[in-house]
Amino acid sequence: MSGRHILVTGGAGFIGSCFVRRTLRADSNTRVTVLDKMTYAGNRANLREVEADPDRRQRLRVVVGDITDSAIVRPLVAECDAVVNFAAETHVDRSILDPTAFLATNVGGVHALLEACRAEQERTSRRERRATPRFLQVSTDEVYGSVESGQSVEDDRLRPRSPYAAAKAAGELLAFSYAITFGLDVVVTRGANTYGPYQYPEKLIPLFVTNAIDDQVLPLYGDGMQRRDWLYVDDHADAIAFVLDHGASGSAYNIPGAHETANREVVTALLRRLGKPWTLVRSVADRPGHDRRYAMSGERLRGLGWRHRVPFADGIARTIDWYVANEQWWRPVRSGEWNSYYSRQYADRLAASSAAE
Ligand code: TYD
Repeated sequence: MSGRHILVTGGAGFIGSCFVRRTLRADSNTRVTVLDKMTYAGNRANLREVEADPDRRQRLRVVVGDITDSAIVRPLVAECDAVVNFAAETHVDRSILDPTAFLATNVGGVHALLEACRAEQERTSRRERRATPRFLQVSTDEVYGSVESGQSVEDDRLRPRSPYAAAKAAGELLAFSYAITFGLDVVVTRGANTYGPYQYPEKLIPLFVTNAIDDQVLPLYGDGMQRRDWLYVDDHADAIAFVLDHGASGSAYNIPGAHETANREVVTALLRRLGKPWTLVRSVADRPGHDRRYAMSGERLRGLGWRHRVPFADGIARTIDWYVANEQWWRPVRSGEWNSYYSRQYADRLAASSAAE
């Protein structure tokens, strides 16, 4: 499909901006409008590469605004052929400190976008446009809750256990309800733990890499034996683009990672590459309700023909090297809001911490 116009909400964030960079590179006919609230996690610098490129720059428009604001959302949805919704509050620890923004954006924001699509459906039926936009909701493996053994498949019951995961589950259920009740064209992706360049240093990998570069301690929750399945950001963005083009309407698609491993192993790998000692690692009080393990089957997506391209060993090396080479990106980010979050989240934990074994 060429000549299309995609509205990418949250397109200045970590995974959203990767999708924008990739989409504008992959198809010289595609135009992108980014709608981003530019919260702490949205960063114009994430789109700098595109804005510095004369070809891609002219096919990108950036609008600063909130997806919960219908007055902003409606006219943007009216102009586009597809909506890909990355806009979300995403950090579990922040949802434990205060869930309010999670409900507003991850549920109310999805609602506003769906209503805008519904208005476009009415315009389609009045022949004021050719087709109603496809709506792709970017969701997460966390909607399945902690998976002690085996792998989640798309039709499993959703058992979210954090306010973040519950809000994401609500968002996707709402999206499916619009598919069933109103016949909107909806697809949902559930991505695994994602890592790579441009990730805000609050998630495990970018936080620990940037702390380690500065010889600051690494706060490992509990026994560090929680397991995650790591997905490189380029693969994640690529899979979303693939589902946008090939996914069956009304379906969810798991996007698993390429490497399931315990947090301790991730920390070992990054310390080794940075040449830093394990003595930086502190054992701190666990996250309440901490999910022990996420693991998804990728069978449905594989059945459509999608494959990972980046194994964990390559992805983690690229990521670490990117943070080492791009201090000008992350040093300004680790100030202001970051400092107040960091001390709220970690000061008491670190004061009561012990050396990690
Ligand atoms: P995170 O990156 O927050 O992703 P998620 O909670 O969505 O999986 O955390 C990944 C794992 O790392 C998770 O088991 C929690 C753990 N973790 C720590 O041990 N210490 C930290 O400071 C952070 C941020 C995470």
